[in-house]
Amino acid sequence: MTEPFDIVIFGGAGDLSFRKLIPALYRSYCEDKLPASSRVIACCRNAQEQSAYLQHADEALQEYLAEGEYRTEAAQAFIEHVYPVELDITESGAFWQTMAELLNEYRQRVRVYYLAIPPAIFGVCCQNLAKYKLVDERSRVVVEKPLGYNADTANAINEEIARYFDESAIYRIDHYLGKETVQNLMALRFTNVIFEQLWDAKSIDHVQISISETVGLEGRAGFYNEAGALRDMVQNHLLQLLCLVAMESPHKMKASSIRAEKVKVLESLRPMRGDDVKRHTVRGQYVAGNHKGKLVPGYLEELAEAQSNTETFVALRAYVDNWRWARVPFYLRTGKRMKQRCAEIVIQYKEVSHRVYDRDAGALAPNRLVIRLQPEESIQLTMMAKDLDTLDMRLQPATLNLNFSDTYKKFKSDAYKRLILDAVSANPSLFIHRDEVAHAWAWIDPIIDAWQSDAQDPHLYRAGTWGPEESDELLAEDGFKWFNAGEQH
Ligand code: BG6
Repeated sequence: MTEPFDIVIFGGAGDLSFRKLIPALYRSYCEDKLPASSRVIACCRNAQEQSAYLQHADEALQEYLAEGEYRTEAAQAFIEHVYPVELDITESGAFWQTMAELLNEYRQRVRVYYLAIPPAIFGVCCQNLAKYKLVDERSRVVVEKPLGYNADTANAINEEIARYFDESAIYRIDHYLGKETVQNLMALRFTNVIFEQLWDAKSIDHVQISISETVGLEGRAGFYNEAGALRDMVQNHLLQLLCLVAMESPHKMKASSIRAEKVKVLESLRPMRGDDVKRHTVRGQYVAGNHKGKLVPGYLEELAEAQSNTETFVALRAYVDNWRWARVPFYLRTGKRMKQRCAEIVIQYKEVSHRVYDRDAGALAPNRLVIRLQPEESIQLTMMAKDLDTLDMRLQPATLNLNFSDTYKKFKSDAYKRLILDAVSANPSLFIHRDEVAHAWAWIDPIIDAWQSDAQDPHLYRAGTWGPEESDELLAEDGFKWFNAGEQH
């Protein structure tokens, strides 16, 4: 994009804005992707927020950028693009009039409206944009999660936005899709014959997709306690990763083809109801524990409540009922306050069909492909090889390790930067279509219903561990183990 554009952040003084959006836009500036005279219009609820805004934005850059990224001169120059504006989104009147005048200084520009606000006011925000004639073919709206609480509420939100914006102008963010390694996953699958030929139930034993976090509530207690890990992480990020692993090749890398393939995967997910839910899911909640030698509080203490049965951890076994994936279990796991921060996809291959070496050569470990998305971005392929330290015919696993940070030393992944710039240049391939949201909820809702009617409390796990024992048992039932980052396997 070489043309200047305006991005309007509704919820400009919120957490997301300072933590992610302002740093992402600063990075865009540093890479010459914020053309001169482009504006970052940050809507603040009141005059106090507005007056302190620029200083706060500068502090946020210092706090949330990676080491060495903050440069005083660049930050000052970037801040000149930022316009804090007082706006009560729900009040139609003088505020919106001022906003319209500001935007209309450049009528022909691409405008990105970023809704970093609670979904309850998405509707009124879009309505006011339309009322003040601020929606045209060059405007797009970017929508942050939570996109609903279940299928019905998600549908209601989508309906409301659709009254003012065409689906092609709606960009629903799942920031996992903006991570470079997630895109690399598609590149890996669809450009390498060695993988594509070995990507199905004939070769693959099972798949693990795991996103573990070490953080707790991070000041989002109200939201999180209502949502829980299934809604917060599985409905979106984990299911999106599952789609990318399981989908067929799109005929072209264009948004509609990719989406069509993802939807087919979501439709093929085997529904879980009643007893299936008990059999295939584990919910957990952390209690106080140790993280890197420091005592961290339990969920209820962080929440300052005596009781809550919200899950901060989920592990589940899913099946994609189609020809390619028949009977291959997909294990998904995510949790807060776990032992390590890591997002990883593990493709566990089957054993070789016939053993040619005798027992003395040692055990044969089946091939394993580990695609790590964070903290560092790497791909590892473990295979069997001869032990070269001995003349005897001994076998041992050897790992091919492709660590992208070795090759791309300066590379700093920023999903938000990528996605904002994609929205600016009208590239929807890494955004979520309405159909995907609907299908994902259709699979998640019955799980939540079953949990609610079961009324069983989540299993407890110590902060700083890999989750409750029941999560290990879920895999042990099938003869498997979780692949835990940093442990010997
Ligand atoms: C967000 C969730 O979508 O993803 C948070 O709401 C979670 O609870 C975050 O912490 C994790 O993202 P990342 O990129 O840090 O793995």
